[in-house]
Amino acid sequence: MADFTPRDHPLQDRHIVLGVTGSISCYKAADLASKLRQAGAAVEVVMTPAAARFIAPLTFKSLTGRDVVVDMFEAAETEAHVEVARRADAMVIAPATADCLASLAHGLAGDMVALTALATAAPILVAPAMDSQMWEHPATQENVATLRDRGVEVVGPMIGRLASGRSGPGRLAEVPEILGALCQLLGQRTGDLRGRHIVVSAGPTYEPIDPVRFVGNRSTGKMGFAIAEAARDRGAFVTLVAGPVALETPWGVHRVDVQTVAEMLVALEQATADADAVIMSAAPADFRPVSPADHKIKKAPGQETLAIELTQNPDIIASLPGGGVRVGFAAETRNLADYARQKLPAKRLHFIVANDVSAPGSGFGTETNEVVIFHDDGRVEEFPLLSKYAVAHLILDRVLERLQPSA
Ligand code: CTP
Repeated sequence: MADFTPRDHPLQDRHIVLGVTGSISCYKAADLASKLRQAGAAVEVVMTPAAARFIAPLTFKSLTGRDVVVDMFEAAETEAHVEVARRADAMVIAPATADCLASLAHGLAGDMVALTALATAAPILVAPAMDSQMWEHPATQENVATLRDRGVEVVGPMIGRLASGRSGPGRLAEVPEILGALCQLLGQRTGDLRGRHIVVSAGPTYEPIDPVRFVGNRSTGKMGFAIAEAARDRGAFVTLVAGPVALETPWGVHRVDVQTVAEMLVALEQATADADAVIMSAAPADFRPVSPADHKIKKAPGQETLAIELTQNPDIIASLPGGGVRVGFAAETRNLADYARQKLPAKRLHFIVANDVSAPGSGFGTETNEVVIFHDDGRVEEFPLLSKYAVAHLILDRVLERLQPSA
């Protein structure tokens, strides 16, 4: 068994200061605080007096296990007002009102949230929430532009139903989006893949038989999506070329949707032109119908069988000229080592991640995977059953070892 330490969640042991300002969406900040704690972060909450009218500080104290600071004069007595700012690995302000954005843009320190934002050297993420007229007002837009110029990250606001009953931009981003944006922000500041472009393919392809039927396979894309997320968490710019799958795009990942092998090939040719690595976790269909029907194929009276002639699809990874570090997958049901070793030179791979898809916990659609990595220099590394996110990091660790120093 290979020597390795599974990676923690990117927020594990991070010190996150959560600033809460007065919007009706404050209640969602309680869920955010809880999810941050579940991810292993130490969470310290600072609130404005307006936020404390929407939601009790006690809620956050109970969720985070730490005192919540609302009154900055009380905090000033113990120097807590600057200590909180100093301890932060990142500050998230969610929800961030128009008033809060204005304070931040102009360097005001009139409440504990604005004061902490002014005093911290840590990266700041704001999740605005307000009525759409307030969001669209030139003053707010200018303030947001100023903050972006200064390196503040902004997630949302989302378009949808607002507390006023109207619809438009102004909804607080959902908790998974805020967490994704935070992981991306931390990765971009300190991740070992920052500045790199990693291309990942995921999912099956559907090769049309007629307008309603296709030749495909059981791939769900979970492994590829986990790799895309892990690469984002390590600061990479990620292009995810996805076949037809029912998965949410990880926040900050550039996704290109394709249906067929022909489309996947074109998308990957474009994406890998400047890539540092290509990780081919998709399960492209090996064959496609020779001549897909223009209209739905109908049963003829008395017809017992239907023959569909298939022709071989191109091997995508083998035909990609470059891509930097080249990683393939081998999903087998027998002779794993032999087949995986044969695919290494045939597809010009640096290493191949092989798994027995018939083993328990290792097949399509599972949350876990048990892999063996075969390297082009003959090394073989076996790993136990791990989450797909943990496997993703193992793969990226090995990509990192092989990357050329960046220019
Ligand atoms: N692959 C590819 N293009 C294809 C088929 C596969 O780029 N048309 C890639 C897969 O994404 C994977 C690797 O090649 O990274 C191995 O895929 P696999 O299906 O295991 O192997 P095949 O080459 O298709 O061979 P076989 O199906 O005979 O095992």
